[in-house]
Amino acid sequence: MRFSSAVALLPAASAISISPSATPTNATGPIALTFPGLAFEQASFYYYFGNKSHPNTFSQNLVKAIVDKTKTAPVVRVGGTSLDQSTYDPNLKEPVYLPNPNQGIPRNMKIGPSFFESFRNIPDAKYVVDIPWAKENLSNSLSFAQTAWKSVGSSNIYALEIGNEPDNYPGPDRPKGWTQKQFGEQWGKWSRAIADKLKIPVDGGMFQAVALASQTGKTNFPGGTPESWKIGDIFKAKLSDFTDRMKTVSMHYYQTKANEHTNVQADVMNHTAVVRGTGFIKDALKSLKPYKVPLFLGEVGSSMGNKTSGPMLGGVLGSALWQVDFSLYSMFLGVAGISMQSGALFEFSLWRPDYNKKPGAVLPAFYGQVFTAEFLGTHKDVSVANLDLNKSYLSAYAAYEGKTLARVAIVNLELWDGHADNKPKRPSQEIELGVPVGTEKVTVKRLASPMGGTALPSDQITWGGVEWTRKSNGKEHKVDDKGTEELTVKNKKVQVKVDASEAVMVFL
Ligand SMILES: *[C@@H]1O[C@H](CO)[C@@H](O)[C@H](O)[C@H]1NC(C)=O
Ligand SMILES: *[C@@H]1O[C@H](CO)[C@@H](O)[C@H](O)[C@H]1NC(C)=O
Ligand SMILES: *[C@@H]1O[C@H](CO)[C@@H](O)[C@H](O)[C@H]1NC(C)=O
Ligand SMILES: *[C@@H]1O[C@H](CO)[C@@H](O)[C@H](O)[C@H]1NC(C)=O
Ligand SMILES: *[C@@H]1O[C@H](CO)[C@@H](O)[C@H](O)[C@H]1NC(C)=O
Ligand SMILES: *[C@@H]1O[C@H](CO)[C@@H](O)[C@H](O)[C@H]1NC(C)=O
Repeated sequence: MRFSSAVALLPAASAISISPSATPTNATGPIALTFPGLAFEQASFYYYFGNKSHPNTFSQNLVKAIVDKTKTAPVVRVGGTSLDQSTYDPNLKEPVYLPNPNQGIPRNMKIGPSFFESFRNIPDAKYVVDIPWAKENLSNSLSFAQTAWKSVGSSNIYALEIGNEPDNYPGPDRPKGWTQKQFGEQWGKWSRAIADKLKIPVDGGMFQAVALASQTGKTNFPGGTPESWKIGDIFKAKLSDFTDRMKTVSMHYYQTKANEHTNVQADVMNHTAVVRGTGFIKDALKSLKPYKVPLFLGEVGSSMGNKTSGPMLGGVLGSALWQVDFSLYSMFLGVAGISMQSGALFEFSLWRPDYNKKPGAVLPAFYGQVFTAEFLGTHKDVSVANLDLNKSYLSAYAAYEGKTLARVAIVNLELWDGHADNKPKRPSQEIELGVPVGTEKVTVKRLASPMGGTALPSDQITWGGVEWTRKSNGKEHKVDDKGTEELTVKNKKVQVKVDASEAVMVFL
């Protein structure tokens, strides 16, 4: 197209043109359709899924809503810090004993054999089973592993993980000078002992290694300092001796609050923060390349802690929009899958079960996961391109099925607070989307709320006009007939308006 005619076609000064290539260029794929996975804090898992006689159908329906989008079985990681600091008690009658039920990450809990009944309540799931390590009681951890292996069933186990965030061990659980080499040596001994106990070949690729922390502690930003452990250094120090034992390597990611003056716009609804924060993931992917071990993000959440006088950082639509941006960007980076973290008391959870006399709720992050799963779809060869707009508050991605452009996601991260007094008129962004020759109509679905980025649980949020709530027991129901619209293509372009604090998906 000639420059002069392009200028003449621009509808308004503020419109932004996005023209994804008709075939996959700079796209990453194929993306595993299990990419949008789940993770649960150990004790919470029981409250999420119930026991043999009382399966939790609310949670079962919500898991089904996600995996129906990709027609896969879910990969589910169960564990974390609480598990790592727990002990297995073969005589415990209850599934789990909590010294303090008000702790989001319970310390010193006990796990009994009946805990593993809960795993049967997602019958086709593939689990990442986390095994306690922090207390260094090998015989106790071996009985835990053996019971888990038998009860969950080897065909339902995706991988075994040893401990959690070992780079956080120095101080509480290991000497201050605990090194990446010592980590690798002990991991080598423990993975062998566990494989021997389960009578499986140690080099059969059954382990998910590392579970590196998000390293937000020192800088209030993911990725730590130059002194923090790095996946590449951990491998060089010792762990590379054991790549035959690994199915995957895992690291964790929480976007997190920078300081008391920052807000959900600065910390979470900020694509620049995602691009910067994922720096240590990009480094890890690069250093894992020669070893050919895929990288999983084994625990992911929008923000740890709240401590804000403005709109909350987690549990709002803004954090679900962050999650969409983060998940699609991670696909593009070449991450193999995300285990999105939930716990009974975490506001960034996908949903909350009934717990401690508080009724359950579907939370905004659930919608982020549904969006991500639907963007991926069901095709066996999906690749994803980042349509780099070089903007903090707007991002866009293209999904290809084989050689064909199938979907475009556009995320408007500009915060509009529908709860604010004297709220300004809601801004919006006009997008002029270029589509391939032969496309006459497109369908548009919105992840939206009349309350904007501050919208709280699901009765204020819709995806393509449908919602999921506790009241509907986690079943989809339609609330808005206009949730899906058809737009007509003119001159290979379609005009799409995206409100502040909204994401759209365009189906070609
Ligand atoms: C592919 O990526 C490179 C480097 O980021 C960029 O220069 C190039 O324009 C991209 N090509 C397309 C078709 O987007
Ligand atoms: C299973 O869960 C139900 C509901 O929480 C509870 O009443 C029941 O005692 C549990 N069954 C066992 C065997 O623990
Ligand atoms: C370690 O675990 C074993 C077996 O579960 C238990 O008998 C022992 O007391 C534990 N040791 C410590 C120091 O807690
Ligand atoms: C967005 O994130 C970047 C990178 O962390 C940061 O420099 C910038 O200040 C953030 N934006 C706002 C509005 O705070
Ligand atoms: C977050 O902080 C705000 C302001 O202090 C408060 O109103 C809100 O209840 C807090 N939310 C949670 C989940 O702690
Ligand atoms: C990206 O945006 C920044 C500031 O908005 C600008 O300085 C920079 O030149 C832009 N980069 C590209 C490649 O367009």
